[in-house]
Order: sequence, then C-alpha cells, then structure tokens
Amino acid sequence: MIDVHKLTKQYAGRTAVDGISFKVEPGEIVGFLGPNGAGKTTTMRILSGFMPATSGSAQVAGFDVFRDSLKVRGSVGYMPEMAPLYVDMKVKEYLRFRAELKGLSGRTMRRRVGEVMELCGITDVRRRLIDNLSKGYRQRVALADALVHDPKLLILDEPTNGLDPVQIRQVRELLRDLRSRHTVLLSTHILHEVEQACDRVVMLHRGRILADDTPKNLATQLKTSTLVHVELETADKEAAAKLEKINGVRKCNEEAANGSPWRHLMLRVEPGFDVREEVQALAATEGWKVRELHRELPSLEDVFVELASTAEPLKGGLS
Ligand SMILES: Nc1ncnc2c1ncn2[C@@H]1O[C@H](COP(=O)(O)OP(=O)(O)O)[C@@H](O)[C@H]1O
Ligand SMILES: [Mg+2]
Repeated sequence: MIDVHKLTKQYAGRTAVDGISFKVEPGEIVGFLGPNGAGKTTTMRILSGFMPATSGSAQVAGFDVFRDSLKVRGSVGYMPEMAPLYVDMKVKEYLRFRAELKGLSGRTMRRRVGEVMELCGITDVRRRLIDNLSKGYRQRVALADALVHDPKLLILDEPTNGLDPVQIRQVRELLRDLRSRHTVLLSTHILHEVEQACDRVVMLHRGRILADDTPKNLATQLKTSTLVHVELETADKEAAAKLEKINGVRKCNEEAANGSPWRHLMLRVEPGFDVREEVQALAATEGWKVRELHRELPSLEDVFVELASTAEPLKGGLS
C-alpha cells in the first residue's frame, strides 16, 4: 500500500527527512512515532501528494507520488496535523463541499456524508458551525473528511493531538472500527498511545528510521533490564534472598506490607532472561502460594530512549 525508498526532503538545505525506506502492507495499522521535529509531518505530506520530495521514490496505493500526485490524493484519506477546516461552515455543509471536491456527487455524495457523520459520531452536531465546536469534535470532522471518499489508505497526522483523555479514547475506538476496511498510517509523538493500536511501529528520529517492528518485538529486544512482579503468601523471611539467587535476577525488592498477607516482590532481570518458570518452580519447592507472576515489558518510550541515545547525529542537518 505504501512503498517508500530512500526518501529525502530538505528545506533550504536543511535535512528534515534523511533517506528513509519503509513499507506498509494492505490492512496494516502502522504507527509513525517520533518526537516533535522528527520528520513525521513532512513524510506524511509527501506521501499524501501535497508536497514534493527532494529525492527518493514513493508508491502509494499503486501510484507514484511524484508523477501521479492527483491520483494519490484520490486514493488517500489525509488528515493533516492542523486540519484547515472552514470554520464559518456548518458540519454537514462542509463535508458535502469536501466530498464534491473529491469527486462525489448526487445521492452517493449525500449517502457517504451521512455514513461518515454516523461513523465519526458527529450526526448530532451536523447543523452546528465548525467554529462553535470543541477541539475533539473538530478532529472528528477532520477524520470524517479524510474518510468521505472511502479511501483504501488513511494517513492521519497526530489524530489525537490536543484532545483530552476521554476524546483520545474515542478516537482510538474509532480507529479500531476502521481497521477492517482501511490501511492506516498514523503519527504521534505520544509513544504509549500506539502500543495497543498498531500492528507495527516505525520510529523516526531526526529524519531517520531508528526501528521498524512490532511493539512487542521492540520491547523484548531492548537491552535494558525488565521487571518481574511476584505476589506471594509465605512467612519465609528469606524469600527475597532466595529469588535473588535465580540466574538472571539482578536484584529483588519487596514492597512494604500493608497488613495484607500477600507480599509484592519485584525482580530486576537481566536483558535476555525470562525467569518466570524458575520463580514458579522455586515457589512450588518452597511451598509458597503465588497469586501473581507477571513480566513488565519495557514501554516504547524506553525503547525509543535507548535507540535514540545510540543513534549517530545527523550530519550537517538539524540539531
Ligand atoms: N516548511 C518548512 N520549512 C523549513 N523547515 C521545516 C518546514 N517544515 C518542517 N520543517 C523542519 O523539518 C523538521 C521536521 O519537521 P516535521 O516534519 O514537522 O516533524 P514532526 O512532524 O515529526 O514534528 C523540523 O526540524 C522542522 O523544523
Ligand atoms: Mg508533525
């Protein structure tokens, strides 16, 4: 659905996107992650056919973004970072206007506008001026706009930016509903946001790709230690010391008991070790009761920090 090869964009000689290559297969939900200034918006604008690249190539929905930018725009639903909504129009009026710009007309146009308003939960505000809507509703209008011509591919630039936690959850649920019908590339600088939602994550840093993998693979390959939580019921004062002897356990800390017979111990485990089976075997031998044994994988944020700290600086580019 997307095939990007050595894509580079320079603004007045400064490199914003530095020779990136990646693919998105049909049906995938891919998260485009990176801090502000990483090059996410620049890449998405190029892929949506709204901005030329300096060099490299990109195919989107079977079209070349440089030669066929109009066809690309027709096959992509692009939700820009700052959606240029016409604030003095009413919601339905605006969506009909946008649908006509995208080549829909007559009954088909009216039906599609009704469908996307329903899908995005904005039917109730269809007669309101966009100017009078909250940020959350405006984001949904922008999403309805991106969806109205039923594009195979959605490119969403920070769709939850500026929303409150309830609105963020609503957008996330909406994305989940869309996944069966559309391929989605979405960007965010909030790394934990995509941990659940995305099949794959492309991490961008200073215009370069740091990592491209599933969230789970990224978390398990990390070189930093992991935590294993154990909840035990036993009077054994040596429990922590015994757990610490397991190969791969660096340290075992115990949380202060708060009157409960259940003790919460946290094992700091060397990278590459999974000690859960040994913990279970030890508990069985010692006759400890276990009610929780859980490995806490590092977050994408941890992954990003580790990868970014080892990445080489961008030559002659941005600081
Ligand atoms: N129109 C522009 N002119 C000059 N520099 C720009 C322009 N747009 C973005 N940049 C620079 O390119 C880099 C990447 O920006 P952007 O693609 O917006 O990143 P992101 O979306 O990840 O925050 C930033 O350093 C930004 O300052
Ligand atoms: Mg951006």
